[in-house]
Amino acid sequence: MRLDRMLSNAHAGTRTQVKKLVKDGRVCVNGERAPHSSLQIDENNDTVTIDGNPIVYEKYVYFMLYKPAGYISATESSHEPTVMDLMPQDIRGLFPCGRLDRDTEGLLLMTNDGPLAHKLLSPKYRTEKEYYIEHALPLSAEDVQRIEKGVVYEGVQYRPAKYKRISDTACTLTVCEGKYHEIKLIFSSLNNHVDYLKRIRMKNLKLDESIKKGSYRTLTESELDDLKEENS
Ligand code: URA
Repeated sequence: MRLDRMLSNAHAGTRTQVKKLVKDGRVCVNGERAPHSSLQIDENNDTVTIDGNPIVYEKYVYFMLYKPAGYISATESSHEPTVMDLMPQDIRGLFPCGRLDRDTEGLLLMTNDGPLAHKLLSPKYRTEKEYYIEHALPLSAEDVQRIEKGVVYEGVQYRPAKYKRISDTACTLTVCEGKYHEIKLIFSSLNNHVDYLKRIRMKNLKLDESIKKGSYRTLTESELDDLKEENS
């Protein structure tokens, strides 16, 4: 990668500003003054400094967004607010990793890391997703058995889900596929109804409840390492 590209990607300044930094002799690569800004560097292994301060190159960004109701999980829409409206506007290629319905709240990973998103969303990897659910009617023992065996609804088979009771009308379900309206349709198959839905976990990544709804934060290194780990 060109040095000036790496520096501007690392938010060290605009292309013009970083060119000037190089010209002024303030940028070093592996301890040597960089001769020009089009120098090819290995962004993952070379040490780049400005005035002696190391520049960390991050190819991808990863945010945990606490999605509020009222936003669609899409990168653009001409007539509805999207989750992109809640994010910084200057990150190229940012997108939501997966979808939550407009009225669903909770954890949404926002990234520009296509390969990781592909892996997390691919049915092959069976990434676990856990939801907190408030439902209209109590569940019978038979309903719970059906959820745990996997329901069929309108010709679609849903894989077994893990059920945890919270109260007569609240529970968590953990599912490992990402079918359209999956949780709502599982409840419809039981002649029940989801009143409130919030995603609280994706793989090992738990929703940080200290984030305000509609806000986001960067993932910690250990959260990211866990997300990238192969499923056992
Ligand atoms: N299942 C649903 O029904 N809706 C969501 O938003 C996510 C999972």
